Amino acid sequence: MFQAGIFKGKTALVTGGGSGIGYEIARQLLQYGAELYISSRKPERLEVAAEKLREYGPCHTFPLDIREVEQVEALAAHIKAESGELHLLVNNAGGQFPSPAEDISPKGWQAVINTNLNGTWYMAQTMAKHFFLPQQSGCIINIIVDHYRGMPGMAHTAAARAGVDNLTKSLAVEWANRKVRINSVAPGIIQSSGLEHYPPELVAQVAKTIPMKRLGTTAEVAEAVLFMALSEYITGETLYIDGGSRLWGDVWEIA
Ligand SMILES: NC(=O)c1ccc[n+]([C@@H]2O[C@H](COP(=O)([O-])OP(=O)(O)OC[C@H]3O[C@@H](n4cnc5c(N)ncnc54)[C@H](OP(=O)(O)O)[C@@H]3O)[C@@H](O)[C@H]2O)c1
Repeated sequence: MFQAGIFKGKTALVTGGGSGIGYEIARQLLQYGAELYISSRKPERLEVAAEKLREYGPCHTFPLDIREVEQVEALAAHIKAESGELHLLVNNAGGQFPSPAEDISPKGWQAVINTNLNGTWYMAQTMAKHFFLPQQSGCIINIIVDHYRGMPGMAHTAAARAGVDNLTKSLAVEWANRKVRINSVAPGIIQSSGLEHYPPELVAQVAKTIPMKRLGTTAEVAEAVLFMALSEYITGETLYIDGGSRLWGDVWEIA
């Protein structure tokens, strides 16, 4: 899809790169020549993924929880020591659970906001301060969700991701004259490891509600991420990869 070696000389970091969508983003970046870092909480999962990814190019691992600022700082210091520069951050790590809004506990709410909004912010600000702003070059891509019409049944993550969507616009303008771009990619329902947390019967009926009548693939999301990373005049945008489902069709029935 892209020119061979188009990411040669670029260093990229993909959070949640040990599984699903993040793994495929990492794989494609390596395939097109990038040096790669993948990060998430479970070191074993990262190592297994990195072993496979090294077939495509140089892949480093760094276990961390994006909610812990000191760990995010330690990752920045590690990349600085190992590679000197960072050119692309893909904020892909995240998670949520389906629940009627009235049943979300304070703990559940805080966990989802903390991961998807605060963790994403810590990563963006830290990497910008250590790399992108002093370098006067860099790109951030946030993976969010299809929150275009709200997200009944997962109000917590939609609120967090709408926050990231808005943050994308503010940072895009604040950092534009320092040649730092920031965009979001909003996947619809993607056939990926993230779906293992949902009842299979629910997933099975979801495809019928999507205008394109199928789930998306991790490859399709990754291609969109690479496109956004390469598009030098796009900033502050959100690209939906959802087969049209933001516009039509109800993913599940609301009780
Ligand atoms: N699949 C879909 O249909 C879909 C649709 C829209 C958006 N998304 C979003 O796309 C992203 C990837 O989803 P996926 O389907 O590939 O699911 P996934 O395999 O569950 O990916 C989530 C990744 O995030 C990491 N992670 C979670 N919490 C973290 C934390 N606090 N600190 C660091 N890493 C953390 C996980 O690794 P560890 O457990 O090792 O930390 C995992 O690698 C997620 O943000 C998801 O919400 C997915």
